Amino acid sequence: MSETRVLIVFYSRNGSTEAMAKSIAAGAESKGAEVRLRRVRELAGPDVMATAPGWAENAARMNAEYPAPTADDAVWADGIVFGTPTRFGNVTSELKAFVDSLGGLWFQGKLVGKAGSAFTSTSTTHGGNESTILTMYNFMAHLGLIIVPLGYGDPAMFAAGTPYGASTVSGQASAPPTAQDVAVAEYQGRRVASVAGALKGAV
Ligand SMILES: Cc1cc2nc3c(=O)[nH]c(=O)nc-3n(C[C@H](O)[C@H](O)[C@H](O)COP(=O)(O)O)c2cc1C
Repeated sequence: MSETRVLIVFYSRNGSTEAMAKSIAAGAESKGAEVRLRRVRELAGPDVMATAPGWAENAARMNAEYPAPTADDAVWADGIVFGTPTRFGNVTSELKAFVDSLGGLWFQGKLVGKAGSAFTSTSTTHGGNESTILTMYNFMAHLGLIIVPLGYGDPAMFAAGTPYGASTVSGQASAPPTAQDVAVAEYQGRRVASVAGALKGAV
């Protein structure tokens, strides 16, 4: 059977969600999966971006590294992992705009039966990590994805993350994920790759 294909589609402004995406990719690749890392693009214009130090520079760096996701990426994948920083306990409009672009695939049922999973980054410990991930469960259900939570299926889950998906707390200084956060993200990557591989052709 061909390699399991995992699409990781994320938004990140300051790099912490990006770092989690890379760890999820590493976990999926450790299971032999082929991974596409894709960053959704800004919706804000240059004037708005200029109001936040580093926004434009970070976006330029990441956009040079990661292509923008397409509907074809979603069709290609056996499993799709969505990542977003929280915005008031919810998904960024940037990630949501990509999800909303999948209406045509939704209508044709093209994503039904693929694995789906979600992760996030917040600046504060209780700033909405679980609500942000659970919000993504809504659109994953509508798309017909088989939602892959983490539960407590790995020792890493007893030190960090949430049973709904990986998360990290970046604080006020855009701190990178801790080793415990990374361990959860790698577990998410392994788990999604395993479930996506098992579901291939089954649903
Ligand atoms: C408009 C806006 C709303 C935000 N809302 C929250 C929030 O509700 N809770 C929280 O903890 N952090 C919130 N944040 C902070 C980011 O989610 C947080 O810094 C995140 O780690 C950034 O991820 P990134 O490094 O991948 O860009 C908000 C940031 C912005 C710009």
